[in-house]
Amino acid sequence: MNPLLPREAEVIGRDQESPTIFSLHLRFTDARVAAGWHFEPGQFNMLYMAGIGEVPISISSDPDDEERFSHTIRVVGRETRALARLQPGDRIGVRGPFGRGWPLERLEGRDVAVVTGGLGCAPTVALIDYLMHRRRRFGRVAIVQGVKHSEDLLWRERYDEWGRRPETRVLLAADVVRGKWPGIQGPVTALFDRLELDFGNTASVMCGPQPMMVAAAHGLMERGVVARRIWLSMERNMQCAVGLCGHCQFGSAFVCRDGPVFSWPELEPLIHQKGF
Ligand SMILES: Cc1cc2nc3c(=O)[nH]c(=O)nc-3n(C[C@H](O)[C@H](O)[C@H](O)COP(=O)(O)OP(=O)(O)OC[C@H]3O[C@@H](n4cnc5c(N)ncnc54)[C@H](O)[C@@H]3O)c2cc1C
Ligand code: FES
Repeated sequence: MNPLLPREAEVIGRDQESPTIFSLHLRFTDARVAAGWHFEPGQFNMLYMAGIGEVPISISSDPDDEERFSHTIRVVGRETRALARLQPGDRIGVRGPFGRGWPLERLEGRDVAVVTGGLGCAPTVALIDYLMHRRRRFGRVAIVQGVKHSEDLLWRERYDEWGRRPETRVLLAADVVRGKWPGIQGPVTALFDRLELDFGNTASVMCGPQPMMVAAAHGLMERGVVARRIWLSMERNMQCAVGLCGHCQFGSAFVCRDGPVFSWPELEPLIHQKGF
């Protein structure tokens, strides 16, 4: 398939997750395209609307779901506002999946800490589903999620459900707490003292605002997690998504082609420098 050519997909469902966040559930209209399409957790699609533009969005659905794929989107500007108006039956163009996802084989046999901030949880949802479906291949799993406001937490039922799985813990933190909140008040890193993991045999995957991921990576390394077992999902402006235009350049890497998932040693030389 030509990776520059959008394929038509139909909106088959839509969930309003919060006032500014929604999920679209999609299916390719061409059955042959649908049958041959699959993605790895951590990859993204380019969503195209004629006359408006194209944006990179992580795939947030279960990779084993053959009926549909989903995207969870925060409204921030022109394109995401237009996507928010879509209803079941509407059609858009989809290119993808693109990028290097989470290093699934390198998580096997290890404890796994999934650390996310804000909507950062979207790219890890597909990974968590993957881990839960193959639970015995992994050690203990800690899902550590930070949000600005306790009311910002999406998918409370999913977190409850994951937390009931064997050897799986969900830890929540919010900067501002209102009402009943099962987590702590404070930054996501304040939860690290509660982690019951074998840090010497732990791998971590992270998504969210860059300063949060940097603080979290340092927090885990201080506890003994090996730098090369920490992976971060990066976001940059994108256009081609296939390593041609250079819009997503990060040092000598292109986030669309070489990422969006990078290991800490790959990012460390540049991540502290302004402008990268
Ligand atoms: C690999 C990848 C995966 C992504 N996954 C998701 C996802 O799952 N869900 C989701 O809601 N968004 C995701 N994004 C971000 C999304 O692509 C942008 O929010 C979107 O392009 C904004 O388009 P717009 O036309 O609505 O806003 P614009 O009008 O382009 O921008 C509005 C505001 O948002 C800021 N902005 C634009 N792009 C980004 C960006 N990439 N990161 C941070 N701020 C940005 C702009 O600086 C501006 O302030 C992802 C981005 C990348 C690169
Ligand atoms: S978006 Fe064009 S090189 Fe990455």
